[in-house]
Amino acid sequence: MKKKLNKIARDTNTFLSKFFISQKKTELIKPMRYGLLPGGKKIRSKLIVDVGKIFKIEYKKLIYLSAAVECIHAYSLIHDDLPCMDNDNLRRGKLSTHKKFGESTAILAGNSLLTIAFEILSHKNFNVNEKIKINLINLISKTSGHSGIAGGQFSDLNFEHKKIPLKKIVEMQIKKTGKLFSFCCMAPVIVSKKNKYINSFEKLGSDIGLLFQIADDLIDYKSSSKKEGKKTKKDIKKGKATLISLLGYKNTIKYNEKLKNNIYKKINKFEKKANDLKDTVKFILNRTK
Ligand code: IPE
Ligand code: IPE
Ligand code: MG
Ligand code: MG
Ligand code: MG
Repeated sequence: MKKKLNKIARDTNTFLSKFFISQKKTELIKPMRYGLLPGGKKIRSKLIVDVGKIFKIEYKKLIYLSAAVECIHAYSLIHDDLPCMDNDNLRRGKLSTHKKFGESTAILAGNSLLTIAFEILSHKNFNVNEKIKINLINLISKTSGHSGIAGGQFSDLNFEHKKIPLKKIVEMQIKKTGKLFSFCCMAPVIVSKKNKYINSFEKLGSDIGLLFQIADDLIDYKSSSKKEGKKTKKDIKKGKATLISLLGYKNTIKYNEKLKNNIYKKINKFEKKANDLKDTVKFILNRTK
């Protein structure tokens, strides 16, 4: 798993580096690269490649999708760390982008990473037909905006220090994290034109994203900053509404185990073709142990 993940991370980073080189030079490129390239796990890229394998999509096309997704993810992290949001100084083992370059630069670098995702997907060398491209751009737009990441981040902040019911917490986590995972699972299906699978892969993606966010919350509760490269034990301090704050640590682990079993059931239908995808799900859960 680690070896495959590292290869995908390397290939996505190489693609992105080349993409930056092909762009007009500006002063924002340095903070953009800083927030994007070094240190991230690139787990979303791995998911794209895993699903791409099930649908036999050419690797090069998958890297275009991964590159776009990692730009949006990096943008969301840069903004997530800002003082007006989670106010975190450490990310991926180094200073957060706003600590290194200043707040206004971090906001603008984040905005530029969001829009560069659309440049990547609309690029002439991304070799899929125009209709599919528009479909992908439409979907990644919805994923990023008020009904996706931005909307979820709004609820996450709005819910601080409040008692929020389970259903609302899950909804918020699916928006802020699950939607991008859904995109990762749907995009290779869209490229394959096997449209009858789209809905089931949307749901599979949001389940895996939810599993991932709950795992992240468990890690925040239990793990160390040194190991994670970001501050831990911060969700309690900030009064974040998480399953841990509602159900407790042990029950949250149980909840995630159940969720994992449901995910496995769906993945098992694809037999051997889905082995890599299963490894990724296992990896997400094992990070909490
Ligand atoms: C962190 O995501 C933010 C969440 C959605 C929990 P990752 O854990 O994937 O962050 P990097 O990219 O590896 O730093
Ligand atoms: C972030 O969730 C989700 C995003 C969409 C950025 P967290 O706030 O829990 O992520 P970390 O713990 O700071 O990485
Ligand atoms: Mg946050
Ligand atoms: Mg945060
Ligand atoms: Mg967290």
